[in-house]
Amino acid sequence: MTTRLIHGRAELRGALAHRTGEVGVVMTMGALHDGHRELIKVARRRCQVIVVTVFLNPLQFAPGEDLSRYPQTLDADVALCAEEDVDLVFAPDVAEVYPLGEQPQVRVQAGPLGDVLEGASRPGHFDGVLTVVAKLLHLTGPDVAYFGQKDAQQLLLIRRMTQDLDFPVEVVAVPTVRDGDGLALSSRNGYLTDDDRAAALSLSRALSAGAAAAGDGPDAVRRTALAVLDGQPGVGLDYLALVDPVTLQSVPASYTGEALLAVAARVGPTRLIDNTLLTLGKLTLGKLTLGKLTLGTQEA
Ligand code: PAJ
Repeated sequence: MTTRLIHGRAELRGALAHRTGEVGVVMTMGALHDGHRELIKVARRRCQVIVVTVFLNPLQFAPGEDLSRYPQTLDADVALCAEEDVDLVFAPDVAEVYPLGEQPQVRVQAGPLGDVLEGASRPGHFDGVLTVVAKLLHLTGPDVAYFGQKDAQQLLLIRRMTQDLDFPVEVVAVPTVRDGDGLALSSRNGYLTDDDRAAALSLSRALSAGAAAAGDGPDAVRRTALAVLDGQPGVGLDYLALVDPVTLQSVPASYTGEALLAVAARVGPTRLIDNTLLTLGKLTLGKLTLGKLTLGTQEA
């Protein structure tokens, strides 16, 4: 099976018209790396037709962000897709996606979940993401769409949009792919100098340290993670947040259950994000605590 590169929506529609089996889509902004590759591999295990979209969406970048220097490597992206047996690479230009102008009048609004964390730092970002994801879902008409846990808030909002607006698609989450040293793969890692990269490792180290303190409760998680980042040269912390993974609200000190520990920081001129899911206070070995029921030191 050869990988076909398509730029136009009419050609895409034609290519998908007589498909059989399930269609899986992996949406990207290009500069593909092994994180994107993993999404494709997961899709390939289930779907008979795989579509990868490569589109650098101006609508999700604010003025002054890195749109103009974002890496564009279409030939290499198509080669990676061919290695992974992708059927169609849809790489439209801006006019193909936004034929009535780059600033569509009608957009998807992310709502309150889009105002916190990344949304607080990047106002309007998730409206831009959801608008293009909605359009690409319409254009590709997949049965399944694959998104990375690396962008946990984006994943949550896309899930929410497909439910709130009844998109007939299943959203599948794929765990974050990391380099051997722990750094989450990102198209933006290419911006990092050697010194930046060394500093950037403090993000994943902070998350691991925080996760290791999960048995001691939310305050311990935050304190431990912040201790790794505090005073780390070259890292400008934007936020470190321990939140409910569904509401994205900060969890109280008494919280037990699953939580999302998310971090964003500027390393040199590059803004990086990372996160991990952890379970708070449910089970601590040693004193073996299950919720409120304490086993172990039993008294007669
Ligand atoms: P992009 O940053 O190119 O990411 C495309 C997809 O790859 C997203 O689902 C993202 O979560 C996933 N991804 C990125 N790095 C990953 C990693 N290290 N491990 C696992 N998955 C990873 O996210 C976007 O593009 C855009 O916002 C998009 C959804 C395409 C809309 O424009």
